[in-house]
Amino acid sequence: MSITSFLLFTLFVSLTLHSKPLHSLVSSPYLSPTIIYPDYQNMLSKFKVFVYEPNKPFTFNSPAESLFYTSLRTSPFVTQKADEAHLFFVPFPSDLSTRSIARLVRGLRTELPYWNRTLGADHFYVSCAGIGYESDRNLVELKKNSVQISCFAATAGKFIPHKDISLPPVVFSDAPHAPSNKTTTFLGYFRHSGVKESTLAKELIGDPHFVIETEPSDHMTFVERLSRSKFCLFDYGIDVSWIGEALRFGCVPAVIADLPIHDLPFMDVLRWQEIAVFVGSGGGAGEAKRVMGGVSRDRYKRMRELGVTSSQHFVWNPSPQPFDCFNTLMYQLWLRRHTIRYVRRE
Ligand SMILES: *[C@@H]1O[C@H](CO)[C@@H](O)[C@H](O)[C@H]1NC(C)=O
Ligand SMILES: *[C@@H]1O[C@H](CO)[C@@H](O)[C@H](O)[C@H]1NC(C)=O
Repeated sequence: MSITSFLLFTLFVSLTLHSKPLHSLVSSPYLSPTIIYPDYQNMLSKFKVFVYEPNKPFTFNSPAESLFYTSLRTSPFVTQKADEAHLFFVPFPSDLSTRSIARLVRGLRTELPYWNRTLGADHFYVSCAGIGYESDRNLVELKKNSVQISCFAATAGKFIPHKDISLPPVVFSDAPHAPSNKTTTFLGYFRHSGVKESTLAKELIGDPHFVIETEPSDHMTFVERLSRSKFCLFDYGIDVSWIGEALRFGCVPAVIADLPIHDLPFMDVLRWQEIAVFVGSGGGAGEAKRVMGGVSRDRYKRMRELGVTSSQHFVWNPSPQPFDCFNTLMYQLWLRRHTIRYVRRE
């Protein structure tokens, strides 16, 4: 190869290398668009989870918890060989008392070798409400070391950022999709749980740019509201239960919260800053309207598209599909598999 063609080749390579990530940045809802696909494939072929047998069979109280547990137990990730497992799942009923949970962990610690290797850091559990801080050693280790999967939005003090995972509100696979071209009539739609609870709702009532209601009369009306509104308003900490549906119908979430949110669903996978707007609650309705109104046409269009694409991650299928809710939760667990196991000293 001559010097000139070598230089041209180098130039070509550096141009392609540079243009590709830039392009994928704007068109991907993922934080690591080039890594997620190969890493996901890697997970499918390698990830192994050992599920402890509960003392007696039980069912979880919420649909999200049950769907996860059922999907996990019937998934190819489960192994009977604890020695090859990356992670260990500790099942216990939603309403089990903290004393019983402590006893359960003590049992694992004393009867089996796995807990002691990481003091629970390669273990995970599902608890919609999340568990709080207790002084009992078993509960401290479970809370501080093991990965908790709790329902979004988590109660204050029950979620540890970067370690814990949010279980998103359930969206079923038969829910219809976003209309391909959406013509919006309203700036915002806000389904709230009562004017008493939401000062924002109180402020917005009567504003012609918004549809404000406590409960849509039926599902079709709800779908129509989502389709005809540019933004869907969520009072974080009061009701975020329909955020997956909002995304699916191309209604860009506007999340109102007084502090940064650390428990957004799939937070280490999705670029939330590109699919939703976040508004401080201090500024009231004026601030919310200013932020929503300030999103340019192009930015809005992209947010909406990325949101619709992201909504597949919220969907539960009768048998898990690539990148659906179950598999994305598993992917988040896969990202958390690197824990140091200490060799037992005799
Ligand atoms: C785990 O460590 C504790 C001490 O912290 C010990 O009492 C227990 O027997 C150990 N478990 C196993 C299975 O060796
Ligand atoms: C898209 O919107 C335009 C007007 O905004 C309408 O005329 C057209 O029928 C719509 N297409 C579909 C597929 O809904």
